[in-house]
Amino acid sequence: MSDLRFLSLEKLTLSYGKNIAVPEMDLDIAKGELVALLGPSGCGKTTTMRAIAGLMAPSSGSIILDNVDITRSPANKRPVGLVFQSYALFPHLNVYENVAFGLKLMGVRGSLLDETVKEGLKTVGLSTFATRKPAELSGGQQQRVSLARSMVMEPKVLLLDEPLSNLDARLRLEMRNELQRVQKESGVTMIFVTHDQVEALAMADRIIVMLDGHIEQIGTPEDIYNRPISDFVADFVGFENVFSLNDGKLKTANGMVALSGDIPADAKGLAWRPAMVTLGDGPFEGTIRGTSFAGGTREYLLETSLGQIKAECDASLPAHAFGATLKFDLPVARAASLSRVGSL
Ligand SMILES: Nc1ncnc2c1ncn2[C@@H]1O[C@H](COP(=O)(O)OP(=O)(O)OP(=O)(O)O)[C@@H](O)[C@H]1O
Ligand SMILES: [Mg+2]
Repeated sequence: MSDLRFLSLEKLTLSYGKNIAVPEMDLDIAKGELVALLGPSGCGKTTTMRAIAGLMAPSSGSIILDNVDITRSPANKRPVGLVFQSYALFPHLNVYENVAFGLKLMGVRGSLLDETVKEGLKTVGLSTFATRKPAELSGGQQQRVSLARSMVMEPKVLLLDEPLSNLDARLRLEMRNELQRVQKESGVTMIFVTHDQVEALAMADRIIVMLDGHIEQIGTPEDIYNRPISDFVADFVGFENVFSLNDGKLKTANGMVALSGDIPADAKGLAWRPAMVTLGDGPFEGTIRGTSFAGGTREYLLETSLGQIKAECDASLPAHAFGATLKFDLPVARAASLSRVGSL
């Protein structure tokens, strides 16, 4: 049981002066999980990481790690590693010395130190770079040093705050796989902060979606991608047609609209990805106000009596002209059913 609650935040409240950034957060993370903390800028991701790492004291609540209450433990006494977006390496130390730094502070010396550092460098594929200075490395390599430096301390939890956001697209992909490999091989519990949903979906065992300091939804990538529970999460993962419901009818720019099909009784809203909109047939009509070709698919922006609708179809189908009228349907059976609508 304790492995499922390896790291627990219990009613954790985090404030900057009078401003509460994170009110009463409850969260359980299992041992060995790779969790992504996903959310827009300012939602409290870094604040939560800082609190777990001991860089800020909570106003109330507690943090339990491996059955130990660490809420009041100083940062350097917590078995928690932290990797930042800026690699924060010591520029005057070489790669080997950077990785050895924390171990030396802990009193590790001699052959144990040497073996641990070499093992750490091997883990991140940098064995042959030991004598280089950080300035002689690429961004991805610097991030690997930063990862090795944390991993050799054998943290019980490793926190990574947007570790890939300084890297170009190709390196990001490479480091994504690298992080996943290191995590799976070492079994370290990892919390990975990102505001990129693609990154979160690709890497995580579980995703925590945060909004305005609270947890909006927790689930597997499949849950989040296929079954968003709120308008915010739906929009965040690409359901671009989101409506709230009132008395089983869609609330639209031009009044209430009834749909055919069984709407779940507890649904507060419905959402469709562009690809879930049926084109060419159906009870509704729209005028094409934009088209975009995306390789395998073509997207249409439709002006309709329901408001703007984004629909997508196979690009191999004949293209419809700008300004043409298209019939379409929003099939209830394909929609994600939302149990909460906040901003609609
Ligand atoms: N040092 C600080 N003093 C006062 N307010 C702060 C401080 N740091 C962050 N905040 C506020 O706390 C809230 C959460 O900030 P936080 O840095 O945790 O967001 P974030 O989710 O990490 O965002 P980003 O994706 O931009 O990094 C924001 O409203 C922010 O303005
Ligand atoms: Mg941040």
